[in-house]
Amino acid sequence: MKNYADLWIGYNKRQQGGDCNRLKKIYINGSSGSDRITENAVHELKNGLKSMLDIDPEMVYGQIGAPIAATCGKEILDSEEYCISLLDDGVSIDAKSGSGVLYAVFDILRNVSCERDINEVYASGKTVRPSNPLRMLNHWDNMDGSIERGYSGESFFYIDNEIVIDDRTKDYARLIASIGINAVVINNVNVKQAASYMITDRYFDKLAELGEIFAGYGIKLFLSLNYASTIEIGGLDSADPLDEKVIAWWKDKMAEVFKKIPTLGGFLVKADSEGRPGPFTYGRTQADGANMLADIVKDYGGIIIWRCFVYNCKQDWRDRKTDRARAGYDNFMPMDGDYHDNVILQIKNGPMDFQIREPVSPLLGGLKKTNQMLEVQIAQEYTGHQIDVCFLIPEFKEILGFKTYCSEKDDTVGDIINGKTLGSRYSGIAAVTNTGNDFNWTGNYLAGANLFGFGRLSFDTELSSEQIAEEFVRMTISQDIDVVKTIVGILLPSREIYERYTSPLGIGWMVQPATHYGCSVDGYEYDRWGTYHRADHLGIGVDRTDKGTGYALLYNEPNASIYNSPEKCPDELVLFFHHLPYTHKLHSGKTVIQHIYDTHFEGYEEAKGLAAKWDTLKGKVDDEIFENVRERFDRQLVNAREWCDQVNSYFFRKSGIPDEKGREIY
Ligand code: GCU
Repeated sequence: MKNYADLWIGYNKRQQGGDCNRLKKIYINGSSGSDRITENAVHELKNGLKSMLDIDPEMVYGQIGAPIAATCGKEILDSEEYCISLLDDGVSIDAKSGSGVLYAVFDILRNVSCERDINEVYASGKTVRPSNPLRMLNHWDNMDGSIERGYSGESFFYIDNEIVIDDRTKDYARLIASIGINAVVINNVNVKQAASYMITDRYFDKLAELGEIFAGYGIKLFLSLNYASTIEIGGLDSADPLDEKVIAWWKDKMAEVFKKIPTLGGFLVKADSEGRPGPFTYGRTQADGANMLADIVKDYGGIIIWRCFVYNCKQDWRDRKTDRARAGYDNFMPMDGDYHDNVILQIKNGPMDFQIREPVSPLLGGLKKTNQMLEVQIAQEYTGHQIDVCFLIPEFKEILGFKTYCSEKDDTVGDIINGKTLGSRYSGIAAVTNTGNDFNWTGNYLAGANLFGFGRLSFDTELSSEQIAEEFVRMTISQDIDVVKTIVGILLPSREIYERYTSPLGIGWMVQPATHYGCSVDGYEYDRWGTYHRADHLGIGVDRTDKGTGYALLYNEPNASIYNSPEKCPDELVLFFHHLPYTHKLHSGKTVIQHIYDTHFEGYEEAKGLAAKWDTLKGKVDDEIFENVRERFDRQLVNAREWCDQVNSYFFRKSGIPDEKGREIY
């Protein structure tokens, strides 16, 4: 018995969604069938069709460059692109490489798994090119097996400082390739202890093996790098990016690393952030650090992904001038254009840290001459620890659709990271991932929808949240239309419900320090992290306008003017940008204080409603799945009630203003 679930690559028996005869013969043009990725793809296809429909397809390979099926109507240009079309006696896949074939295979399997009629789906040919060049998962796994911000067990990559490679490793590669992921960072951005030695002999063999497994599924292996390796493992006394000794050390090191791990894609670097070393120590810029490494790995086709999460984490809470929200922009904007070609700046979606609601980082749309990648977090650090249900895809859709006004056209975040705005091939999207060695991979079974959804969305940003949720349910839980509707109905509103019972109007934080689960209104108020709500008896919020920290003005117009004005600023972000009296009227017509009371009471009731919906599924879904989610709902409701009562009591006591509806506040 396997000790992990198959999730959406389980391929249980399916009903035919229509006449499936064509699936008995599959033509593949563009791959000889002998490369590793195509071999894996064909194996997957045969296995999937056999288990789901009892079909054992005959495979026919065409030449690379053979004329493509007429229904596709256009040439396949990109190595990850594919076209699926119907022939009289079969289904044809056109691609330029194994990766294209692989994605086509998963497309077919997904449609069969959702019991769709392939004759309809592929009637006029379906040509697909992934939306984003890089579609990446960032593991925050430590080599001792723990996971930073992990909520689903231990790491399946490491035990006791050794790299583990077993059946689960390969199934993991299949699992994430099937949703379109093509790059993965396997160690925590905070590179310490054993992880610093990843780039030494101690781990090369295992990493090479891992890299090969991933490569067989079109996935590039990346590592997080310790910026101070020259000191920590190299025995030098400096990590100054302009020091010749440092550069020479890195040159030798990278020659060795890429020789030993030939499939390696490059590195992710967290520098000068939360205690991690970086170029600032030597009076150098972030660009100096990133470029030094990038120039060296360039010879091996490597890239450097450099994180923009650089801020002062030792702020004095009395200091109202320093604004953490500005830090990313202030540290990285001045060097726009200086970062070399194979550097990508990885930017968290918001200026703070993955709160349930934040404005989009002004670096996205600010930077005009720099490769950029968006970083989101599906590990539910601030969004319920995979105890509370919080389907994040609607949030990611909002972020991707955000208009930055950085150019006349193609100015959304989606356009920037897919490379359209800047014409860059080095761009994309990364998620801090939510997996661990729990049986179901993600703790709460429903948190699997965030992993599935992130991959699907990174591959095709046009998909709707609803489509993604529905596919997840069909592929992993049930085809029963009522069950599908019920679970989709739980997932879709869950993020806004979580927002309603937690921190209001974009203010964020108010969480238990360190763990980041559960309510503590003042938990971060008198601390060093730059995370304040500034509530007193008259009002709440941070003044980030031209009269305050000036943060609002970092956006392009008209966003800057909109955020700068309490009248124009959207309600959901108003306390992020403004310090307002509790009596301030929102666009909704409610006062700030009444909004706080209403949303908290409602959010708690709505969370109860989600749990009640889930209860109707007893006996209709797998018992293990039912109990797993049920047990988490029990904890979610305790959490939601604490948030509701603590936030309401806190602000009632601070403001002295009673709830208009006279509900019980403590
Ligand atoms: C947050 C998180 C840390 C993490 C950091 C990062 O601060 O709490 O655990 O290391 O983000 O993104 O680097």
